[in-house]
Amino acid sequence: MRPVSEGVEQTKDVVTMDKVVSLCRRRGFVFPSSEIYGGLGSTYDYGHYGVLLKNNIKARWMEAMTQERDDIVALDSAVILHPRVWEASGHVDVFADPLIDCRACKHRFRADHLAASQCGRQPSKVPGEGRECDLTEPRQFNLMFETTVGPVQDSAAKAYLRPETAQGIFVNFKNVLQLARRRPPFGIAQVGRSFRNEITPGNFLFRVLEFEQMEMEFFVPPDDADRWYRTWVDERFAWYLRYGLRESRLRVRPHGPEERSHYSSATSDIEYLYPIGWAELEGIANRGDYDLRRHTEFSGTKLEYVDPGGERYVPYVIEPAVSVERIFVALLVDGYDEEVVGERGRTVLRLHPQLAPVKVAVLPLIAKDEGMVEHARRLYEELRREGSAEYDDGGAIGRRYRRQDEIGTPFAVTVDEQTLEDSTVTVRDRDSLAQERVESGQVTRYLRDALARAWRTPKGD
Ligand code: GAP
Repeated sequence: MRPVSEGVEQTKDVVTMDKVVSLCRRRGFVFPSSEIYGGLGSTYDYGHYGVLLKNNIKARWMEAMTQERDDIVALDSAVILHPRVWEASGHVDVFADPLIDCRACKHRFRADHLAASQCGRQPSKVPGEGRECDLTEPRQFNLMFETTVGPVQDSAAKAYLRPETAQGIFVNFKNVLQLARRRPPFGIAQVGRSFRNEITPGNFLFRVLEFEQMEMEFFVPPDDADRWYRTWVDERFAWYLRYGLRESRLRVRPHGPEERSHYSSATSDIEYLYPIGWAELEGIANRGDYDLRRHTEFSGTKLEYVDPGGERYVPYVIEPAVSVERIFVALLVDGYDEEVVGERGRTVLRLHPQLAPVKVAVLPLIAKDEGMVEHARRLYEELRREGSAEYDDGGAIGRRYRRQDEIGTPFAVTVDEQTLEDSTVTVRDRDSLAQERVESGQVTRYLRDALARAWRTPKGD
């Protein structure tokens, strides 16, 4: 259990999606997109702290892939690819959901989600009206956004916004093999925006129309594919624990054969217990040799590996794929807490320090005291060279602490009367609320050490 300070009452299971959305709004993490025009459903804009949190998620993922291992290289491919890519990948034919309309309430549903939605339940009535639902037959609806390249809008110019980043990796397989001089097992990691015209988007950032995917395609000898598949499920599960998600809210769920994508011979989801229930956070798939074979067939370029003994084979691919958005929501849900400290309530985001948007806030106790302000500003200038820091002299000190707690800042440094006498400051820990006096000149090193130490305090259930 996280050490709880005296006088602190913890409130359990306080988090709801509404509270997370409201915190994101209040603290400027996320806004509905095009809000002044009434918003566009399921698209969002990120404010300062949202951008910093997303950047940290992407940086930790890339680090785990390309820095902590030496068998994965990075790639950044285009969003708009040759349209034949999507024919080869199977997306033009099968990347579709069965769509049903209700003629009475005008809602649209995914046929496979209908049982869980309001409309279509037994007895099937239009919600709130008592009229019978009037459902159309299911029809296939392709989820790819279409666009045209060039000034003429004819079918020859048709292109798509990528619905996954993975295909950009497959079509670069040969480049990487030759130019990065890799041999299986090796991986290619990519972070980038993907687009899907989802039929039933929603639940805040959980299912949106555009999102940032972090995908890694790991190319292996076919005989080793199963072993690597299991390795990557374990690796990715461990990554979430490392960054502080509660183990009790994570599980691995293998897909049944009827659930798998057209390319997959085995898939497992890492699921998180969101306020909407258990749902897919990340998917890990064994894609076999499907993609490389299809692109070989459609492009005429052989995508295979010839080993030093002259043996040729098409590598199998193991793919961990997740969106920044699903991690973003899981982190906020997992970190969100409300507690009463003394007489007062506080909301706190217990984010892993390596992911927190701001690492440290510097606060002069009395904003009008020139000595304190000067000292605090000097310290702030020093700290922000190390990482994301904030200076705040607005309002009562308690309110300033609350503000930092809500954005998940792990440390607050306060400059007070004693600082002017002995050059020490207090460092307040967001979670334990412990305050320690530290020599002002040692704060940078103190925080560097504290951030480098792995933070693995289970939050409790
Ligand atoms: N390349 C494989 C692939 O794209 P997927 O299961 O369709 O597989 C991978 O998507 C991950 O992308 C999901 O596990 C989820 O984290 C994220 N994702 C998919 N659709 C999303 C959406 N509409 N909004 C947010 N994230 C999404």
